[in-house]
Amino acid sequence: MTTRKALFKGRDWLTTQEWSGAEIETLLDVSADLKRKFKRRLPHRFLPDQTIFLMFFDKSTRTRNSFEAGITQLGGHAHFLTADAMQVSHGESPKDTGIILSRYGHAIAIRHDLIPGEGNSYMREVAKWADAPVINMQCDVDHPCQTLADLMTIREKLGSNLRGRKLAVSWAYAPSYAKPLSVPQGLIMLMTRFGMDVTLAHPREYPLMPETLEAARENARRAGVRFELTDNMDDAFRDADVVIPKSWGCLDTMGAAPAESLRIARQHQDWRCDAARMKLARAGALYMHPLPADRGNEVTDDVIDGPQSVVYDEAENRLHTAKAIMALTMADAEIEYEPGDWGA
Ligand code: CP
Repeated sequence: MTTRKALFKGRDWLTTQEWSGAEIETLLDVSADLKRKFKRRLPHRFLPDQTIFLMFFDKSTRTRNSFEAGITQLGGHAHFLTADAMQVSHGESPKDTGIILSRYGHAIAIRHDLIPGEGNSYMREVAKWADAPVINMQCDVDHPCQTLADLMTIREKLGSNLRGRKLAVSWAYAPSYAKPLSVPQGLIMLMTRFGMDVTLAHPREYPLMPETLEAARENARRAGVRFELTDNMDDAFRDADVVIPKSWGCLDTMGAAPAESLRIARQHQDWRCDAARMKLARAGALYMHPLPADRGNEVTDDVIDGPQSVVYDEAENRLHTAKAIMALTMADAEIEYEPGDWGA
């Protein structure tokens, strides 16, 4: 295998759309290389003494811990910050926050995902002023750390040539909370670039942001793949190679009135991933979910705990991809890596 070198020092990771296909390939290869090194306990301290600030406006298990564990393994340190314990809750501007934090450390990562129209704009304002890379840990538009891990997982299972493979991204019922729209939006934008035919299914009350639909259509056109919409979950599942059914809130009301999203959702409790629906997909189709999943609602236990489910591999890849994003955007010198062996 040929050793390669890469460095994206100072680049912001705000949406996958802003990174070229070749750059995303590099991120995937470095993720695979860091995964190998982690499993073999080989040293990979690419960020000695570096600090990343993790700023959360929302809760997290995977994202927080993949970044905290990841920066430690890379030789650096994370500060876990909740917006409600920062002066941002008293109105401090993204400009002042970005300038100050970037003078104290080497990167700023932000989760701000629950209010349509706010999170991505906030991150861009921080990034405009910060003299350090800004990493999107999930906003209202995209969850690029999740979708990168999803692409890595799909490649590990199906190989790098995804042309002709069908991905079903579907709304599913969940009573727990009005979940952000950014995972399905990120999936339709990214997977259409990497050769998959994508079908998006949702009840008519749960449309995604128009600009993300337009980006997915354009990506599909350029890649020569299909991007289709339906209001029928079964149609999306039929002949799919990968299914990602999950809940999200109503675009119009979830910011100001999330309870309204949940009220409408109760009319669609049959939007559930169960064994009968999995039978509509191709034999051996992958079941994926970014987690947390509403077991018994979004998905039945026999599916999420069954042989087609890859949710724990998918969640594990959040660590390796988060490390690749940090290493490549924060390191002072080029990272040496062996390209991933993705199979056919
Ligand atoms: N999938 C995901 O982002 O998980 P958390 O909300 O736990 O970070």
